[in-house]
Amino acid sequence: MRAERITNTSDLEEELCRPSEADVECLRRVAGDILILGASGKMGPSLARMCRRAADAAGKPRRIVAVSRNAVNITGVDHIPCDLLDRGAVAALPDCPNVLFLAGRKFGSSGSPEMTWAMNTVVPAIAAERFHNSRIVVFSTGNVYPFRDPATGGSREMDPPAPVGEYAQSCLGRERVFEYYSRAHGLRCLLFRLNYAVDLRYGVLVDIARKVHAGEPVELTVPAFNVIWQRDANSRALRSLEYCEAPPRILNVSGREILSVRATAEFFAARFRCSCRFSGTEGKLALLSDTSASRALMGPPSVSADALLEMVAAWIEEGGESLNKPTHFERANGKF
Ligand SMILES: NC(=O)c1ccc[n+]([C@@H]2O[C@H](COP(=O)([O-])OP(=O)(O)OC[C@H]3O[C@@H](n4cnc5c(N)ncnc54)[C@H](OP(=O)(O)O)[C@@H]3O)[C@@H](O)[C@H]2O)c1
Repeated sequence: MRAERITNTSDLEEELCRPSEADVECLRRVAGDILILGASGKMGPSLARMCRRAADAAGKPRRIVAVSRNAVNITGVDHIPCDLLDRGAVAALPDCPNVLFLAGRKFGSSGSPEMTWAMNTVVPAIAAERFHNSRIVVFSTGNVYPFRDPATGGSREMDPPAPVGEYAQSCLGRERVFEYYSRAHGLRCLLFRLNYAVDLRYGVLVDIARKVHAGEPVELTVPAFNVIWQRDANSRALRSLEYCEAPPRILNVSGREILSVRATAEFFAARFRCSCRFSGTEGKLALLSDTSASRALMGPPSVSADALLEMVAAWIEEGGESLNKPTHFERANGKF
């Protein structure tokens, strides 16, 4: 199946969890079970499936274990219900050499900032203590960087963080907690600074496309963004297990291209043969990552931004489902 034109949910789910040869090769080198903490959200289920399939193709028997409060029902993946704020419950989780840490407070949750801080800083401490002998890929976000002019090409890993707003500050807190355990106690980890994974049912491209399709105005306050196909993001996360280090390695993860919100809306308007409307004052600064380091390490993402635009347009034209999940881009745009 070609990734360029996916028009139904079963093909989409199949494509999102299809491991690449590089994923399989990685698991031939990396031994042991894989534990996914925070496995029931937007990315976790397809990552768990990808791990299962890559592990089977690599040929070494191993468990893939998904941990979250809500159930995850995937053949070949063991689900353990667990509130990661419960130290006792985390202590009872099985030992595991490979951990993918995706847990965070669900996007769209508003209010209770103390819960956001607890999820983003207390849970990391509990997990880092419990899995201090493991390697941990820590999902983080490009929100830890300051807003930049798109002409700069985006923030690089060595740039000092300058998170704007309490949510982004708590994300930097998550990184700093893991960094503390890494520097003080030798925990091997990688801080995986992701900017905007795209599924066809949600994500920043889908938000813009659906607004254009519905004749609603597209907000221009944050004028640009980076995106990456969710399968490529999950593949990079899996392969990051090989690059966990103490002190931690930092990796920006997104597509190569910087996309303009205006040009993206105009592309969808042309595809849908309609006009597009805009709202807000067009800003000059955006949260953007330079992803040269991850491309040097793992090669380019398999799907370009142009192909992603086509895929989203085709999905919407065919009446594909929408999960209406709020995105990290909306957070950057000050929605919640
Ligand atoms: N998707 C993106 O484009 C993007 C961009 C930048 C960064 N990230 C980060 O990457 C990670 C994965 O992204 P995502 O989009 O899949 O996130 P998500 O949809 O918000 O999922 C968060 C996960 O955390 C779990 N969780 C929350 N509270 C928990 C608790 N007390 N105990 C156990 N599990 C808990 C949730 O499961 P339950 O509610 O079932 O427990 C869920 O599985 C997140 O940390 C996110 O912030 C994602």
